[in-house]
Amino acid sequence: MNLKKMVGIKAAEYIKNDMIVGLGTGSTAYFFVEELGRLINEEGLRIIGVTTSDRTQEQALALGIPLKSVDEVAQIDLTVDGADEISNDFQGIKGGGAAHLYEKIVANHSKKVVWIVDQSKMVEQLGAFPLPLEVIKYGSQQVFRILEEKGYKPTFRKQADGTNYLTDENNYIIDLHLGVIENPHALAEELDRMTGIVEHGLFLNRVQTVLIGSEKGVEVRESTF
Ligand code: A5P
Repeated sequence: MNLKKMVGIKAAEYIKNDMIVGLGTGSTAYFFVEELGRLINEEGLRIIGVTTSDRTQEQALALGIPLKSVDEVAQIDLTVDGADEISNDFQGIKGGGAAHLYEKIVANHSKKVVWIVDQSKMVEQLGAFPLPLEVIKYGSQQVFRILEEKGYKPTFRKQADGTNYLTDENNYIIDLHLGVIENPHALAEELDRMTGIVEHGLFLNRVQTVLIGSEKGVEVRESTF
């Protein structure tokens, strides 16, 4: 059973005619976008999508999903996106696919956010998954050095050819290998204050519904945010 496909298709049930829908990025959101394309083409669903990466934009365009940019809409009704880790108290790490900057902007303008994951993403505490930071190129070695001094075990994300990975905004990604994040809110505030870090992958108090796929089916969990 493909758990990512199962939750992706399930999430499409939340989409109704005339909604403005945030389209997430990653291998799980891929199946949601694919299902949305099917509903539009085969069942006449009418929606407008707002994408969270160049990759998702390409996929959505190929499927014929009508799109607007985040700046062209007043608000997004519902965003469906993946996540890399979700703790029991609904805090998350995103950015494994380096799209967390656009994803956070879209989430910030969404009335409701749904995350779709397979059960392997559910954790007690965040941090085993390296925390992604999008950093501008200028001064990035200095930011790296400061992060190293703080003991955050940073690494620049690399492409296959060994050069630094580039985001859709042409920035670098630094991953922090923290193991356990004892206080996600304090860390988020600290990273928010650091000049040169455009955005970090901590998504705190930002999701209303989590769909978790397992061999038993899809479990729906609601947060109080
Ligand atoms: C993209 O940068 C991420 O935030 C993804 O949403 C996240 O990495 C989940 O991706 P998968 O669904 O591919 O695991």
